[in-house]
Amino acid sequence: MAMAVAIALFSFLVLLVAPVAVADEAEVLLLLKASLTNANALSSWSPGNGVPCSHTSSWDGVTCDAGAVASLRLAGLGLSGSIDVNALARLPGLRSISLDDNSFSGPIPPFSRLHALKSIYISGNSFSGQIPDDFFIAASHLKKLWLSNNAFEGSIPSSLSKAVSLIELHLEGNHFTGGIPNLPMPTLASFNVSKNQLSGPIPSSLRKFNASAFAGNVGLCGPPLENICVGAAAAAGASSGSSAAAVGLLLVIILALGGVMAVAAKRRNNSGFKTLSLEHVTPGIDMAERREREAQQPEVTTSAAVAESTGKGKRSSSSVKGGRGSGENELVMVNEAKGTFVLSNLMKAAAEAMGNGGMGSAYKAVMANGLTLVVKRMNEMNRVGKETFEVEMRRLGRLSHPNVLPLLAYLYRKDKKLLISEYIPKGSLLYILHGDRGKDHAALNWPTRLKIIRGIAQGMAFLHSELNFIVIPHGNLKSANVLLGPDFDPLLVDYGFLPLVNPSHASQTMFAFKSPEILVNRHLSPKADVYCLGIIVLELLSGKIPSLYLNDTKGGTDLERWTNSVVAENIPWSIIDPFITQGFKSEVFEMEQMVRVGAELIDADMDRRPDMKEAARRIEEVAEKAEGRRKEDGSASAGLNESLMREAQTPAGLSGDGVGVRRTANTPKRSKSIEDYL
Ligand SMILES: *[C@@H]1O[C@H](CO)[C@@H](O)[C@H](O)[C@H]1NC(C)=O
Ligand SMILES: *[C@@H]1O[C@H](CO)[C@@H](O)[C@H](O)[C@H]1NC(C)=O
Repeated sequence: MAMAVAIALFSFLVLLVAPVAVADEAEVLLLLKASLTNANALSSWSPGNGVPCSHTSSWDGVTCDAGAVASLRLAGLGLSGSIDVNALARLPGLRSISLDDNSFSGPIPPFSRLHALKSIYISGNSFSGQIPDDFFIAASHLKKLWLSNNAFEGSIPSSLSKAVSLIELHLEGNHFTGGIPNLPMPTLASFNVSKNQLSGPIPSSLRKFNASAFAGNVGLCGPPLENICVGAAAAAGASSGSSAAAVGLLLVIILALGGVMAVAAKRRNNSGFKTLSLEHVTPGIDMAERREREAQQPEVTTSAAVAESTGKGKRSSSSVKGGRGSGENELVMVNEAKGTFVLSNLMKAAAEAMGNGGMGSAYKAVMANGLTLVVKRMNEMNRVGKETFEVEMRRLGRLSHPNVLPLLAYLYRKDKKLLISEYIPKGSLLYILHGDRGKDHAALNWPTRLKIIRGIAQGMAFLHSELNFIVIPHGNLKSANVLLGPDFDPLLVDYGFLPLVNPSHASQTMFAFKSPEILVNRHLSPKADVYCLGIIVLELLSGKIPSLYLNDTKGGTDLERWTNSVVAENIPWSIIDPFITQGFKSEVFEMEQMVRVGAELIDADMDRRPDMKEAARRIEEVAEKAEGRRKEDGSASAGLNESLMREAQTPAGLSGDGVGVRRTANTPKRSKSIEDYL
């Protein structure tokens, strides 16, 4: 009897771990072998050799996981022929395929059918031809892609931007032409496109890589390479669409500012020209639209647009005064904590494009006096009239809390608004937590993460009391909108915008709109912010990117579901990033408590979710317990922690909505001033 049960149980387990009929896998591999020529090296792949993933047989180059074929390692075996990808599609466990250094030729095999593949290595063959532009459209699981040293040509497929999990991308030693697509995935750690025929500016998301990764492409320009993008190079880049985004963006902002100044100057002389010049000088401006236009008409160059505006820009010179005037086209200071500045000084600042967020685009401006600012151009903030807008701006400028980055100044125009705040060098929490693992990431140990969680909660509680007339006081809390100060104190940005943003746009770009009650029955409430806080708490505890951040693209971790299941099973520790338990094992209990608090904050039933004040109180309670315990223990790791923190204070990085993910390694040493461009 017991035996029968054991056998039944055993077969049940076998069924569980081996999702495919194993006999099939032998057949599949034999089909694959049959599609290859020169397969002498695969003599162990034979019908007489049992099944690939059993204990008794060994099929060369085949590794298994849970009883199914998981990877094929067939590098350097002299193989050629046409790879039977349809056969491979019958291996549901297949995650990795390596065919490096063989003699394959012809177009890239249709690996795009194998959606679950995590690694593709086909370097060192003679593959050639163009790779279809949509090849990677469903490659959300792909982590490693090595196509180096083949003979691929044509553009680098733009669908690579959909490979959101990409860690390694190697395209060096091919004949790729055109621009490099923007690849903003924060996971990308190893990248090389050297020795191709690429051209145009290097997208800001890729500037962090070593110059050698771009070497041997005569047409590439911009950091980290020495040659500056000018005129034709910038225009050549523009034809490749998104790769030109950074430069295009900068130019657009400059043109917008130039237009503003020109208009302001003209108004002084002849107010009759006002409307005409506004229409004329300011480009069509919507970035997406502009990019599309440029992609369609590569011959319409940005430099031509600059030239066109030059005459108009020059005249303006620096006669425009900023200050408190409420006239259009003037900078209005709403917070003087960093001193006051005027538009003309901002115009002379060394400028660098930072990127394009959901609501607009941003650039960094280094003023002559050393003050560094972030200027955000908001395209979708046209919900209210000028007076209401001013009232809101002044209100935001008055906010003062150690965890809230204040607005310093704004510039109002009917269709565009510029919002100006201080530049925070370290960059966003999103970038530091999930980006390339530098010193700043190493400093994100448990006490630091706890400090960040606490600071965010306190800043949020402050916003909820100060902006309590706004239905969702922050409205866009996510790790990209949390900047980290020199001591890793969090600073909230992009709050209080809900009354200002065009309604249709709010639901698309503001993260609070991902809360379950809004998604399900459009019920707006301050508790949407509490939900977002819960997501950040869990993001910090787990070290994982929430899939909610990634919009419609697949990837990331479903933190809500994971948290709910570990809490239900009473195993909250299983969600905790092992990195933060190092040296702080004695506080695992408090970490677990914090997971439970996070779970309450993301309760799908908003009535059970605490309000912000209560949320901050619970977080504070757990944090105090953890600190109390650390003091009792006289934890040895405290000293280490401090030295790490000190080391981590080298400035680098960018900030802001959606911009946080990218960061440029080099600050603009001798970058152009805005006036240089005009
Ligand atoms: C960049 O690459 C060059 C040459 O390959 C190397 O000497 C240098 O150390 C690299 N720099 C960094 C920061 O990795
Ligand atoms: C990129 O590849 C080239 C070879 O084509 C190599 O010399 C260089 O060091 C590589 N750089 C990086 C950063 O991988």
